[in-house]
Amino acid sequence: MYRTHNCGALRISDVGQEVVLSGWNQASRDFGGMTFVDLRDRYGITQLVFNIDDNKELAEKAQKLGREYVLRVEGVVRERSNKNPNRPTGDIEIEVRSMDILNGSKTPPFTIEDETDGGDDLRMKYRYLDIRRAPVRENLIFRSKLAIETRKYLSDNDFVEVETPNLIKSTPEGARDFVVPSRMNPGQFYALPQSPQTFKQLLMVAGMDRYFQIVKCFRDEDLRADRQPEFTQIDCEMAFVTRDEVLDTFEGLTKHLFKETLGIELPDFPKISYDEAMTRYGSDKPDTRFGMEFVEMNDFAKGQGFGVFDNSELVVGIVAKGIASEYSNKNLKELTEWMQRPQIGAKGLVYVKFNEDGSIKSTVGKFFDDEALVNWGNRMGATPGDIIFALSGEAEKTRKQLNELRLEMGRRLGLMDPKVFNPLWVVDFPLLEWDEESERFHAMHHPFTAPKKEDEQRMLTGDHETMKSLRADAYDLVINGVEIGGGSIRIHDRDLQSKNFDLLGFTKEEAEAQFGFLLGAFEYGAPPHGGIAFGFDRLCAVLNGQNSIRDFIAFPKNNQGRDIMIDAPAPVDQEQLKELHLDLDLENK
Ligand code: AMO
Repeated sequence: MYRTHNCGALRISDVGQEVVLSGWNQASRDFGGMTFVDLRDRYGITQLVFNIDDNKELAEKAQKLGREYVLRVEGVVRERSNKNPNRPTGDIEIEVRSMDILNGSKTPPFTIEDETDGGDDLRMKYRYLDIRRAPVRENLIFRSKLAIETRKYLSDNDFVEVETPNLIKSTPEGARDFVVPSRMNPGQFYALPQSPQTFKQLLMVAGMDRYFQIVKCFRDEDLRADRQPEFTQIDCEMAFVTRDEVLDTFEGLTKHLFKETLGIELPDFPKISYDEAMTRYGSDKPDTRFGMEFVEMNDFAKGQGFGVFDNSELVVGIVAKGIASEYSNKNLKELTEWMQRPQIGAKGLVYVKFNEDGSIKSTVGKFFDDEALVNWGNRMGATPGDIIFALSGEAEKTRKQLNELRLEMGRRLGLMDPKVFNPLWVVDFPLLEWDEESERFHAMHHPFTAPKKEDEQRMLTGDHETMKSLRADAYDLVINGVEIGGGSIRIHDRDLQSKNFDLLGFTKEEAEAQFGFLLGAFEYGAPPHGGIAFGFDRLCAVLNGQNSIRDFIAFPKNNQGRDIMIDAPAPVDQEQLKELHLDLDLENK
């Protein structure tokens, strides 16, 4: 037998018991006559003690143990004289009677403890060692629990888990596809799904009524902390539902998950429209843990002779409370430069600093007298001690820039409490987005999203300008500034779907070639339907107050899309390429 107990199980009430434990040597300390070993497994750490006076040979063996050696010990539980209140097993230790070394280990390349000295790349290369560390291990255990609770809730609500294929034809979700060459069909390729979107809609036509799947999706896009090339969705679809029924169901799922994993009872989620989110926060995924809402300043800041403002479509600002004394000129200059970095691209940053002593300092002091600036303060709710920051320019761009500043100030002022969770629904997204560069419309969510009922007629008959104002029955779930999920009510009428493809620039033939299977299915009694997909990795991270999804994925890719442990992607040999009809002479290209 390898173990009677795990390394997290024994307590003071077990004193006197004979036990067998197995695990890894996390650390050993040798005090001459006494050697202490921290034996670790998935469940915890138990201290082993070897006494040279009791068994010289065994104690000497213990003195020679390397880190991460795999051990099996037999011994007796005894009370520790020097208790460790930070460990659940900290009241006891095992007086070891015998020990087997089950396996040796090379010295690990980084310390396998909660705080490690290993950098990102090293930890990824030796991910199997990284996962031995409690924080990463606990994240994976959390993820497993979240998946189980998801299945429980959805299954209790009559959802059926159905698997859909991974070798498919491209589904347009806005990113590039990963493609897989077909050996049996020369020159032809499968695409890995960016999501199971079309399949879940076909399952609704098939009468499945409520579908879900915890499913891998693949997108060849630029990577960031919250984006991986392969990631997991909780993908769902329902038939015969209104938008609000979909939202209620998945608000229910979210509440269930918070309750079961964190013990938190969330209040009902507010719904705000896309337009309102953009006006109040300059973002369709606002972090509402703090205020600092936008105040539009056109009314009182334009037309006063300051050309920059007067020639702008929008002047808009925020108030940072109570920071006047800590923000020196130097800090404000640094903040302005931060806004001028190419990633944000602001031309400058206007500020008005209301000092505690009543004096006012502003970058636009030359153009606005104190009376005018006090009026700004009154209109924007700024009092002595506060700073107003303002930007001006083309409305959409300016709002996006001010959103970056709002978030940065939120971070700097510690307003984003990781223990606070503010979920909300953003609804009524635009149906189509006009792309100046390619001079065509893109679907803001995806091409299967339905317009709002009241906009359907305008969509069928309206002109080009009308199309820009159409609203979709699309929604996102946002928590603490992170887009956790997105979905929509779908088009279930063949003609409306054809019209949408037409607006998106597909010819009839192209639409038929790419989506004929779906259009065809709509001719066989497609029920009204809608759904949503949650980013499962993101949900794990947000519930834990973290930004990066990587530590919630067992074997993630780095920012270049590489798995540096298995060293993928990698070349394949000529033979394999030939079989796939891909024997390109890359060297001569
Ligand atoms: P969408 O494209 O909005 O919708 O994706 C749903 C959710 O998936 C997560 N997500 C990602 N997570 C990690 N890495 C990525 N690269 C990544 N891309 C997306 C986000 C996002 O909200 N088929 C539709 C859903 C529907 O309409 O039902 C879809 O895939 O959290």
